[in-house]
Amino acid sequence: MDNNLLLEKLDSLSMEEKIGQLVQLTGDFFEGDMDTVVTGPLKKLGLNTGYNVYNTGSILNVTDPDKMIRLQTDYLEKSTHKIPLLFMADIIYGYRTIFPIPLAQACSWNYEQIERAASIAARECYDEGIHVTFSPMVDIVRDPRWGRVMESPGEDTLLAQKYAESTVLGIQGGNLESAPGAIPAHKIAACVKHFAAYGAPVAGREYNAVDMSEHMLREYYLPGYNAAIAAGAKLVMTAFNTLNGVPATGNEWLNRDVLRREMNFDGVLISDYAAIEELIMHGYAENEAAAARLALLAGVDVDMKTAVYANQLAKVISGDEHMLGLLNEAVYRVLKLKNDLGLFEDPFRGLQETLQRQKSSVLSDEHKQNALSLAEESVVLLKNDNELLPFSKQAKVALIGPYAEENSTLGIWAIKGDEADTVNLKTGMLKYIDPDHLSVCRGAYMLPLDERQALGKYADKLPGETVAEEDLLHEALRNAGEVDVIVLALGESIYQSGEGGSRTNPTLPEPQLKLLHELSLLGKKLVVIVYSGRPLILTEVAGKADAIIQAWYPGTMGGEALANILYGKTNPSGKLAMTFPRSVGQIPVYYNELNTGRPNMPENGSYRFASRYIDEVNKPLYPFGYGKSYTSFEYSLLSVSRKEIKANEPIDICISVTNTGIYDGKETVQLYIRDKSASVARPVMVLKDFKKIFLRSDETETVQFTIRDEMLKFYGSRMEYKSEPGEFEVYIGASSQEILLSFSFVLLPEGEHE
Ligand code: IFM
Repeated sequence: MDNNLLLEKLDSLSMEEKIGQLVQLTGDFFEGDMDTVVTGPLKKLGLNTGYNVYNTGSILNVTDPDKMIRLQTDYLEKSTHKIPLLFMADIIYGYRTIFPIPLAQACSWNYEQIERAASIAARECYDEGIHVTFSPMVDIVRDPRWGRVMESPGEDTLLAQKYAESTVLGIQGGNLESAPGAIPAHKIAACVKHFAAYGAPVAGREYNAVDMSEHMLREYYLPGYNAAIAAGAKLVMTAFNTLNGVPATGNEWLNRDVLRREMNFDGVLISDYAAIEELIMHGYAENEAAAARLALLAGVDVDMKTAVYANQLAKVISGDEHMLGLLNEAVYRVLKLKNDLGLFEDPFRGLQETLQRQKSSVLSDEHKQNALSLAEESVVLLKNDNELLPFSKQAKVALIGPYAEENSTLGIWAIKGDEADTVNLKTGMLKYIDPDHLSVCRGAYMLPLDERQALGKYADKLPGETVAEEDLLHEALRNAGEVDVIVLALGESIYQSGEGGSRTNPTLPEPQLKLLHELSLLGKKLVVIVYSGRPLILTEVAGKADAIIQAWYPGTMGGEALANILYGKTNPSGKLAMTFPRSVGQIPVYYNELNTGRPNMPENGSYRFASRYIDEVNKPLYPFGYGKSYTSFEYSLLSVSRKEIKANEPIDICISVTNTGIYDGKETVQLYIRDKSASVARPVMVLKDFKKIFLRSDETETVQFTIRDEMLKFYGSRMEYKSEPGEFEVYIGASSQEILLSFSFVLLPEGEHE
């Protein structure tokens, strides 16, 4: 439909019809048996009796194709305006083919694969009738107590930008020259979230306030969202939190000045679940009418799952031309999104094709193969003493632990993921090892997620908690006594991370630590595989295990990926996208910190007046960028084109990397820069570029980097974005703490160049 027709459509709508376009409900408002995935508080909405559900503009989390067809057909029959419904859903890292959780994906440092994963998720959504996914989530996180770190690309701004860009391109595709704005077939619309800074709640507690300087916000937190918008994301979701006292969902400065004007975002801004109504609980709006007014003024187009817009907007707008103008703009944006998706031409977008072909792409071999590769690249080898790994197929192994044959390894946002499709660790290992050489037992009992099953003697426990049982422990010790090596598959349950999964002490559950302790006393070779949605504090594990593999929640093909790594078919190459603290008191601990005026220097020993703890070292257990390989790499600096530059002059760097070990493998070469002195203190290092390369054993490759002025820029104290002359240090290495090459250069002041 051309834009004039769209505007005519908008003009033809009554006030009720317009407001309806801004309302998002779950499917149960239409039919009783609609699947409602619980992603927010379940309560009565209290829609006015006069509200006509057949004006509603979009539906949340109905994902069953038959139901969607029924709903859309019925809706188009009964609605007065015949504008198709939009179906939006949380398909965060896979529809049925589930990829590793986003934090794990970020550890792959492989953005081609991440883009492919997003594109596969979008393809499966398209084939099953979903129009919009609430992805990517690009909230920067520095605090592993927060449960939603699992959904984020981690602590670094560059990685968040790359993740944002790749996922938006994967989900939506690039811009079609023939039809600007249109979303191509097999693609759907992306919604970047949660605007803004939702990943920095005080003390890591879910939904808690966010207080940060504008400098911090612009320097570290906003660029990820901005990258998604630059890549064309059609929607943005507001955050639940207050930002410096003002709730994001009612924040005019944030959403109109920053998002719309500075970032040029002209798509749909949707509230998070019930966030408009929550303006009242925040103490920001007096009542529902005020909440509706504040949200519309702040530029929020769609009200997710409350009755506030539906019940209040007509009154709020009545007689107010300015507010009417804002309403029209919001409705136009929703109609434009529907038009960009081609819904006016085909309200059953994607589904028609699937029905004709009688086949959806869901869980195809190709999709599973991609899930396998990304899982392999996301796994991080944290420790491998005496090259215990990879195993020989002849070794007798006791596979022990709650995750030994657990299929619930998809993470909490895999709303369409089916555990029955999942390859668990035992199944993966049996591809390599004779069943006679593998004994399997749980060692401790992780309660199922379904609360009803957890009744009986564990009625007082939460689903997902691990409980100790003597007979399970004895069985584990017996099995372990008979083998060469123990593989201990431990972790937090998927229910212990994700939304609402904040923890004050993110360690392994106590009964699992006891199991580890008892097994470690046997003196056998011990490999621990950790499943988690966050960096756990693994200090005790590191003291007892010979090898540690961080598996995260690796998705549908996780067990096969891990087995390929255990037996050396795949050489691990993941590098941490988030720091692993040594103890809870270090949190938040992240690599790009400021130096302080009294940095803790190793040569100072336990000097008191330094920025340090008296009961803990400053360094984390495993730093950002860290991850081991079965092989080893040597770096050498070949050339640096110049060491004095003027603004806009690039520096070309060539290094050579050699695989000096016996295994082929991938290495992620990381380039960090430190601005030695500036008008705003700069971090000790900031990741500015990286290259992931594959090298056969003994092979050498030249890796090139170019430093450009853009990489030297930062926000000044008046929020001006600029670089400043002076000395910079460049660090190139295998992690933020394993710097193998370094040099410095000078950015000359204007006018001081030859
Ligand atoms: O997309 C999610 C969001 O991330 C958290 N609240 C609910 C939304 C919709 O389910």
